[in-house]
Amino acid sequence: MRTVYVNGDYLPEDQAKVSIFDRGFLMADGVYEVTSVLGGKLIDFDGHAVRLARSLKELEMANPVTKDELLAIHRELVTVNGIEDGMIYLQITRGSPGDRDFVFPDPEQTPSTIVLFTQNKPGMADSPVATTGLKIISIEDIRWGRRDIKTVQLLYPSMGKMMAKKAGVDDAWLVEDGFVTEGTSNNAYIVKNGKIITRALSSDILHGITRAAVLRFAAEAQMEVEERNFSIDEAKDADEAFVTSASAFVMPVVEIDGVALGDGTPGKVAPRLREIYLDESRKAAV
Ligand code: PDD
Repeated sequence: MRTVYVNGDYLPEDQAKVSIFDRGFLMADGVYEVTSVLGGKLIDFDGHAVRLARSLKELEMANPVTKDELLAIHRELVTVNGIEDGMIYLQITRGSPGDRDFVFPDPEQTPSTIVLFTQNKPGMADSPVATTGLKIISIEDIRWGRRDIKTVQLLYPSMGKMMAKKAGVDDAWLVEDGFVTEGTSNNAYIVKNGKIITRALSSDILHGITRAAVLRFAAEAQMEVEERNFSIDEAKDADEAFVTSASAFVMPVVEIDGVALGDGTPGKVAPRLREIYLDESRKAAV
């Protein structure tokens, strides 16, 4: 049984409780972060803490913890749960005002709710899928317009994964006005003639922490990067494609809407970036 964190307490998972009036439950009025653990250490912790603070600020939600407290909680959960490789899920909601109301409660009277729990994934960096690659489909992006805020409104991304599953593939890329925004739970990239192409940052996509690190490592390795929109047709004609996220790191994509990319294998750029990302982020882990 896991030990989880709820509003200041470390508890066995079956004793951790949140009110039925919690706005996270009633209104999806909450934000979250997923931080990876490799070798018992946190990957890109600073980036996740900074993005969390930004998500809270954008939603005028109180931050119940300092960055140092957050780090201490993450570390304690890794230790007490004996996590070598895996993830830490963190969620903060606008709390429980004791009733349902569209109007935000006064933060002085209604403190935020904060919960964290671990997910144990032994050997997660050695996933065999990284050597075969993902198959994806494209679907329409009908999410709200502030995808830069990491909210818990994950119904459509979840439906997107189900559409992928029903189509017999691994995941879906979301398309808006003819251009790919991102994956259901990752940022999307294509590679053409050695150049890495990915959508520029805006409120249309989540500002991936893994994306920021990978683009920095790509530039340091003298790889060419272009931040611009690309269509599904351009993606189908690419030499390679891949996605990035805290849980998948860098993951090659080998098929889009039934069309194999290049020779249908992960190619050169994505596997190389995965190797660099894993090496460098393990070195910088805390
Ligand atoms: N998802 N885009 C979306 C829509 C995401 O949900 C995620 C992360 C990313 C990648 O962001 P990062 O590199 O910071 O993980 C991009 C997490 C992992 C999840 O929901 O489980």
